Amino acid sequence: MGRGERDIQQIDVRAPAMINVRAPAKINPFLSVRGRGEDGYHDLVSVMQSVSLYDLLQVELDRPLHRDQHPSWRGRMRLELHIIEDIESMEDMGQSSSSSLSNGLENLALQAALALGERTGVADRRYSLGVGAGPGNEFTPGAKTTIRLSKRIPIAGGMAGGSTDAAATLVALNRLWHCGLDVDELLDLAALLGSDVPFCVAGGTALATGRGTQIARVLCRGTFHWIVGTSADELSTATVYEAWDAKNRPATKEPDAVLAALSSGDPHALGRALGNDLQEVAFELRPELIGKREALLEAGVLGAVVSGSGPTMLGLAADAESAQRIADEVADLFAAVHVATSPAGGPELTR
Ligand code: C5P
Repeated sequence: MGRGERDIQQIDVRAPAMINVRAPAKINPFLSVRGRGEDGYHDLVSVMQSVSLYDLLQVELDRPLHRDQHPSWRGRMRLELHIIEDIESMEDMGQSSSSSLSNGLENLALQAALALGERTGVADRRYSLGVGAGPGNEFTPGAKTTIRLSKRIPIAGGMAGGSTDAAATLVALNRLWHCGLDVDELLDLAALLGSDVPFCVAGGTALATGRGTQIARVLCRGTFHWIVGTSADELSTATVYEAWDAKNRPATKEPDAVLAALSSGDPHALGRALGNDLQEVAFELRPELIGKREALLEAGVLGAVVSGSGPTMLGLAADAESAQRIADEVADLFAAVHVATSPAGGPELTR
């Protein structure tokens, strides 16, 4: 049991409660697109790993929830999402132009809260977002849950930033609201929210198949050191897959070399084996990424690849020192450069 879990169990269930969560980004050391299914989603074989680049979330309940509450009160939980520059300072960014992030239902974290609330009877979309209230349609609100989100992971950057926020919200509210869903139930709910959300609930290192929602944990020894170069312009996953459809043919390459490198903890072997079928498409949509990858290779990375559907670029270094040196060397080429390690875990809960 991690330190965070022990802390959570000490929360007094009768008191208003608050939980902080660190939600890690994900990378795909291997991503192979096998074809397009009838539902429009693509069949994947992908190796996913969580990395130490985190969004910070805080969920807070303003009053206790009682199991014996009158049924007419059930579902009357108010839900609010605030995009916060810094959880410590609590400065509300609202819809400021510096953030393209919605604090409405387009945001996957709010969708996750509503999905969990509706699944367990705690929330109901007629009341929870305030749309059911108004003149002639008054209601007595129940408790209020506030979600505060501080973004660190690039938005629409190919690192599952929105998905990890949704996963963190599911895991934290399952505790805060005492829903009692087990991991399998959370994973099922996660798959309804997005293809990467189940992996983000689990974290670690996994082989993902199907839409990406079927995940199996795989062995990874040691720690890998990454340079994460972000772009200012977002790239929509749907656009990248559409571009793949227009030109590309299903691939058959297997992830064996990546799995072997992860299990042996060998960064040199992993650097050689990195692969992403979406990279070519991302390069067509964002040609400037080609030069950025070249620059990472010239600076001495063991391998470089587009992260997920891009446009974030990943470089793998031999160790922590060379990761920092390379990050400094390529810093001017990217909107931001982070140094991160993998694997991280799933959402980390602390008081
Ligand atoms: O599942 P999610 O909503 O995150 O996917 C975003 C978009 O990415 C989908 O609407 C779809 O266009 C594309 N996608 C896909 N095949 C997958 C995963 C995502 O085509 N396996």
